[in-house]
Amino acid sequence: MKNLFTLDDLSNEQILDLIKRASVLKLKEKINNYSSQKVVVANLFFEPSTRTHYSFDIAAKRLGFETINFTKESSSLKKGESLLDTVKTFEMIGVDAFVIRHPQKKYYQQLQSVKVPILSGGDGSGDHPTQSLLDLLTIYEEFKSFQGLKILIVGDIKHSRVAATNIKIMKRLGMKVLVSGPLELMKKEQHSDLDATLPQVDIVMMLRIQFERHQDLLQVSKAEYNSRYGLNLKRLKLLKKEAIIMHPQPVNRGLEISDEVMSSSQSRLDAQVSNGVKMRMLLLKEVIDAAY
Ligand code: CP
Repeated sequence: MKNLFTLDDLSNEQILDLIKRASVLKLKEKINNYSSQKVVVANLFFEPSTRTHYSFDIAAKRLGFETINFTKESSSLKKGESLLDTVKTFEMIGVDAFVIRHPQKKYYQQLQSVKVPILSGGDGSGDHPTQSLLDLLTIYEEFKSFQGLKILIVGDIKHSRVAATNIKIMKRLGMKVLVSGPLELMKKEQHSDLDATLPQVDIVMMLRIQFERHQDLLQVSKAEYNSRYGLNLKRLKLLKKEAIIMHPQPVNRGLEISDEVMSSSQSRLDAQVSNGVKMRMLLLKEVIDAAY
């Protein structure tokens, strides 16, 4: 694998292979030691991130790589430098791979001339390939396959790159994907009734309302949203005992998901975060092995 911009570029077989290989990794395992090569990974985050940024950072360090962590506030972006010129500058000073998150959909199309590997940490409301892979890993650890599993994704479908990638890939892998939430935050997907659907699903994935991408779109108050679409203890009881609860995080606690649900035995939110490190170690290893 040279780059990872979108899972559209990977076959089902490649995706399943990554998931199976990541599933046998331990969180604090060293899967290779490249320290003699002095590989440097630049994490370029043009949008805020905690999980993606720092799980890539720790994944790189566990592989023996060095990292550079870029912040746009103290860079020459402030002087009007473009994304391409910023990335090319890092390439010319010797960076061996990039992790890039950028608010523009398909930002990577501007970076065709960059020769070192790029892993996308998310492009606007486009795709979030590494989040989807860690979500799939979390589901695989639970159910050992994807075919026939039913997932309900609830909330801000319209602005969620996690939902966009997961809906495409989960359907490709044979899962039945249902969505629920306020119509103003939906795309064209058919909308399922939340309370009627919860008892039927193997997985419920709650999404954060992305207020930073839209100010006035939500037509109900936060209290009403919580009452109509929030996953609370009452709705938890509607789920099958073996169903699991996921959320890509960060969460709006008490809005789309309650504290009690986050800490319930059916929650896999912590596992998703830890699986992010394992999957990102594997992906960094893949692109570095292919490039050098
Ligand atoms: N899930 C996710 O992408 O989280 P961050 O924005 O914290 O990276």
